Amino acid sequence: MNESWVRSTVRDIPLYYNPKVKAVRMDTSVNVLGPNTVVRDVLTRCMDLDLNQYPAPYSDELRGALADMYGLAADNFVVGNGSDEVLDTALKTFMEPGETVVAPYPSYVLHGFFVKVNGGRFVNVDLRPGFQLDPDALLEARGKIIILCTPNNPTANCFDHRDVERVVQEHDGPVIVDEAYGEFAKDSFMSRVEEFDNLIVTRTFSKAYGLAGFRVGYMASNLKMADTMQRVKIPYSLDRVSEMAAIAALTNTEYVDAAVRLVREERDRLSSGLAALGFRPFPSESNFIMFRSPRPSKELVKRLADKGVLIRDFGHLRMLEDCVRTTIGTRELNDMLLSKLKEVTEEW
Ligand SMILES: Cc1ncc(COP(=O)(O)O)c(C=O)c1O
Repeated sequence: MNESWVRSTVRDIPLYYNPKVKAVRMDTSVNVLGPNTVVRDVLTRCMDLDLNQYPAPYSDELRGALADMYGLAADNFVVGNGSDEVLDTALKTFMEPGETVVAPYPSYVLHGFFVKVNGGRFVNVDLRPGFQLDPDALLEARGKIIILCTPNNPTANCFDHRDVERVVQEHDGPVIVDEAYGEFAKDSFMSRVEEFDNLIVTRTFSKAYGLAGFRVGYMASNLKMADTMQRVKIPYSLDRVSEMAAIAALTNTEYVDAAVRLVREERDRLSSGLAALGFRPFPSESNFIMFRSPRPSKELVKRLADKGVLIRDFGHLRMLEDCVRTTIGTRELNDMLLSKLKEVTEEW
């Protein structure tokens, strides 16, 4: 292959995080209760589907179920193959190649990836101390689109509601609020999508709903924006089995409630345990915690992985020097994590 064949904007894109170690995965912030309890029944029922047929191109049934849940219309929603797909669709819809998308830093790494693969310019604005938004700087950066996630990944905190609201109100262009961890937080912009002509809120079935392996996500916005984005989304991108699983998961409120309750119960206990071992946990409003290690984080992650537990290293990033992120586990998982961390610190 000749290097010059490759589109110039994607030449330096690395492969995504893809660890090969065999370990307990506390690095992906998924639901630690195991797969959603509807899965077995869904997989049995889907044997009767005529899977030689295509799914509905825009997953109308799932959009209807989401509409019922949020008190919006089905046409306020676009669903796709993970919230990653709908984020990509939103950017494809509104960003011309070469245009600028502004995002806070540090935040979800794939936001920049989607901008780049679609030929845009990704501009970062540093978060303020406490990992809070700098609305003035975000607005002054004069991007076409602003994208942010709250709770923020990997820092785990929510941004101040008034700061996000101000960005939505004052930015003359689409604002994407990624609420992948929204179920674990108290704050959401989902109910306000009809209020603004520029607000897009994305959510996922990969976290609180325990369906990461199925890949289902969605976004909501006012009808005009949603209709425009629907026409850009790849038709049929969500398969029938995943759509069925997502619809069933929406009715299984007990499972989601149990996950949220577990996180709320375990969050403080895990934080205190980390602090007692000499780490510095940051406040979390999500199902994961970021903490700073007094020793090199890369070494910490490696030593822990050798003991069979994988957490994620962010220590190579500016502002997150020697920081790592762990999913908040069940009581047993958290105890196991703390005891392995204790062993590592003692060996140090
Ligand atoms: C902030 C954020 N947005 C979006 C996603 C992607 O979620 P999905 O599995 O729905 O593609 C993630 C996944 O980790 C995330 O952390």
